[in-house]
Amino acid sequence: MKSKFREFLFEAKHRTGLLVAAATVAVSLYMGVGAVAQSKSTLSALPPTPQAPKDNPTTPAKVALGKLLFWDPLLSGPQDVACASCHHPQNGYAEDRDLSLGVTSIGLGKSRHQSPGSTIPIVKRNSPTLLNIAFSGSDQSGSYDPATAPMFWDMRVKSLEKQALEPLKALEEMRENTYPEGDEAVAKVVAKLQANAEYRRLFAGAFGGKQPVSAENLGRAIAAFERTLLANNSPFDRYMRGDRSAMTEEQVRGMQRFESVGCVKCHSGPMFSDYKLHVMGIPDNPALPASDDGAEKTYAFRTPTLRNLNFTAPYEHNGMFPTLSAVVGFYEDASGGRSRNPNVSPEKLDPLLRELKDFDEEDVDLVEFLRALSDDKFDRTIPERVPSGLPVGGKIQ
Ligand code: HEC
Ligand code: HEC
Repeated sequence: MKSKFREFLFEAKHRTGLLVAAATVAVSLYMGVGAVAQSKSTLSALPPTPQAPKDNPTTPAKVALGKLLFWDPLLSGPQDVACASCHHPQNGYAEDRDLSLGVTSIGLGKSRHQSPGSTIPIVKRNSPTLLNIAFSGSDQSGSYDPATAPMFWDMRVKSLEKQALEPLKALEEMRENTYPEGDEAVAKVVAKLQANAEYRRLFAGAFGGKQPVSAENLGRAIAAFERTLLANNSPFDRYMRGDRSAMTEEQVRGMQRFESVGCVKCHSGPMFSDYKLHVMGIPDNPALPASDDGAEKTYAFRTPTLRNLNFTAPYEHNGMFPTLSAVVGFYEDASGGRSRNPNVSPEKLDPLLRELKDFDEEDVDLVEFLRALSDDKFDRTIPERVPSGLPVGGKIQ
């Protein structure tokens, strides 16, 4: 009974939505093209190819080398983890588990587990997708500078080139206690690559110069490969490029809702992110020994892209929400001024959260629209072997 009533309310709401939309179109037509341009949404399709920094133009040789490096566990201290262990194409280059497990762990995604007796802590965050990471930093008009593109949930690193060296230094991701900390850890990895004849040849072919095997070129090759991980032809992209049949009616209504309720205030531009930090009050993950207080201990985290969510559950910086409906339910609470994290008082919540209005957990259209932002035709190819001869992708079997 109750649910029938809800359905009725829903229907009514949608009908009003359509009426408003129809009225907007009528007014725009009446006022001429200028008005249409003014009411243009901040959402747009992604371009077909990304830009690269001036000092690292993308070449086939770099991409081929970067792909091998990405899959080679030689880069980790105990030689058991590769970048692909936590960013696997099977899970949209993200992971289907809440928090990552690095060195000394075994398995892939959900079935990955710490090996008995391991003293290595779990990684405190959820692995983000690398699909479209090339477009990181895109503003509302779609411009971005790949040399300063923000990386990580707290934006602590700029550019793919620099980011690629960070996991090598992180104890719980790829370093273990095998190497010293910081740049010395990277130097150890470079020495291992230098000792491998196939890598020496591939680095020379991709970069030339006197010392082709270097930390800088290691970052460059991986970044060049990551720029090829594109999924930019979703139903939404095709719709925006003019194919009006690419999205369902529900999805088109959901897109209007996405803008009218205010999601678009933070999830804007072709990546659906403003690349800014916001205090959201996502609940802490109980698996962690301490609360994750985000960027500069403010509990702020970066707006993530909303592209390819169909492959990247669970959601948020700590994987606390298993489904998109759970995320929407969270926003219903937050818009009412309720914080879901006891360390974040309601006054600290981002003001834009309170401005969200007029939607609820059962907002089917909104979720349907989010589903239209995924493109499943991305590159899933895995190299047959890697130059070290170690298992491709690390101990993920
Ligand atoms: C043990 C799992 C693990 C491994 C191994 C790993 N990553 Fe990640 N990666 C993560 C997690 C977790 C984050 C988010 C960390 C944060 O934001 O603090 C991340 C973040 C990133 C980001 C930033 C994405 C964004 O949207 O900001 C990039 C790029 C990336 N990783 C690439 C790599 C590369 C390249 C390698 C190999 C050199 C690698 N990762 C190895 C788990 C891993
Ligand atoms: C105040 C800015 C802001 C507004 C408004 C906002 N979001 Fe978010 N959104 C964020 C931030 C920041 C995160 C990441 C928070 C975290 O993990 O701590 C996020 C996370 C998400 C995620 C999880 C994505 C992932 O890969 O983990 C989804 C889905 C999402 N938002 C959808 C929405 C929808 C739908 C709306 C409108 C109802 C909305 N957002 C409104 C800033 C915002």
